[in-house]
Order: sequence, then C-alpha cells, then structure tokens
Amino acid sequence: MTDPIVVAIDGPAGSGKSSVSKQVARRLGYGYLDTGAAYRALAWHALEHGIDTSDAASVLDVSADFDYAISLDPDAYWVRVGQADVTDAIREPRVSDAVSGVARVPAVRQSVNALFRALVARSGRPGVVIEGRDITTVVAPDAPVRILLTAAPEIRAARRSAELTTHDSATVAAALHQRDAADSAVVDFLTAAPGVEVVDSTSLDFDQTVDAVLGVIRAALSVP
Ligand code: DC
Repeated sequence: MTDPIVVAIDGPAGSGKSSVSKQVARRLGYGYLDTGAAYRALAWHALEHGIDTSDAASVLDVSADFDYAISLDPDAYWVRVGQADVTDAIREPRVSDAVSGVARVPAVRQSVNALFRALVARSGRPGVVIEGRDITTVVAPDAPVRILLTAAPEIRAARRSAELTTHDSATVAAALHQRDAADSAVVDFLTAAPGVEVVDSTSLDFDQTVDAVLGVIRAALSVP
C-alpha cells in the first residue's frame, strides 16, 4: 500500500485547529491525528503518578512506562492511557496547565514523533490530517500540504471561553497567553516556515475556515 497523503496543520491554542482539522478529515475521508492529545495524555499520566511536570528528569522517567493509544477516526475520537479512557480528562485545566512542561522535553518529543509517523503509516487511510505545533516543520516537513492556521489572540481567547463555560473570559485569556508563551519557547508555531500556507481564521466562521483549508489542500494536491 502507498503511504497516506499527509496534510500537516499547525497553529496556536484556540485557532480552531482541532475542530477544523477533524472536519477537513471527514470531508476528505482521511484519518485525523491530534498530536497535542499525546502530550496531554502524557501530562495526565505524569499527574496520576504525582510527578512535578516542570522537572524534565521525572517526566522522562514516567514516560518510560507510558502506554497510550489514540483513534485516527474523526467520527470516533478517543484517547487511552493503559486501560483508562482519558478522552475527556486530558482537557481538564490541570492537564492544560501541566502539558507545556511535558512537551518541553526533547527526548519526549522524539519518541512521540516516531510514534506519530508509525500511526500514520499504518492508518489504512488514503490520507491523514495531522495537527499540532511542529507538524509542518519537524514531524512532516515533506508533507505535500502544510498549513499554519492562525487567528488574532483576542479571537482565540473568545472562542476558548465560549467552549469553557465555567471560566470567565479574562481568566481564559490569561491562561491562553501563558500557554502561548510557554509553548512558543519550545517550537515557533506563530510564524509560518518557508512553503507553509497561512490560513487566518480571525474573520472567518467555522465553515468558512474549513472551506479555506480545503481550498489550500485541493490546490496543493491538484484535485477539484
Ligand atoms: O493543541 P493542544 O492544546 O491540545 O496541545 C497541547 C500541548 O501540547 C500544548 O501545550 C502544545 C503541545 N504540543 C506540542 O508541543 N507539539 C505538538 N505537535 C502538539 C502539541
């Protein structure tokens, strides 16, 4: 079987990256790989073990027995660590607060990246939409389609606070700002690498963003 076509999508938190990527995968009949979920699952795993996630050596230690699985089906999304279904738990604020510490460890990044490539290769799909922060630059720099999905910070904060009904918007904006700062110290996902197409969703709604991304993909793959 030929290797699946990879659509690489990077972007910051609140850019709409996950929901847009999932919908794009559905429309194309492709698989969908949420790479942030792997870092979140490891952060969850570390917290379960009482690890201080700002301590790289402890994170590396606990990552040795990290056994996780993730669905590539955009219509049946789940994440597991061992026997535990952590699909919802990895979205909890305590995990969001801890995840940058985990994602900062180079050896962790190398091993999850190897796993991502293996997951894509055996996906059994004609293509896979992979979304994250370093997909266009590190995980799949040779992908035929590479997109940076952005949106103005205030728009991202507003979208995030609409998702998290239990938090006030100022708290959400502050948390988002803090995570942008921590995350961009690891990989620069706010500027497009050479050859990466930028889709700015600041003034687009969800459907328009999906259409814009599909437009880039069709042009790159020369499909109607
Ligand atoms: O996209 P997200 O918010 O679920 O990502 C969770 C965390 O993982 C975030 O802090 C950035 C990090 N991440 C990363 O460093 N590299 C990726 N490819 C994906 C996510």
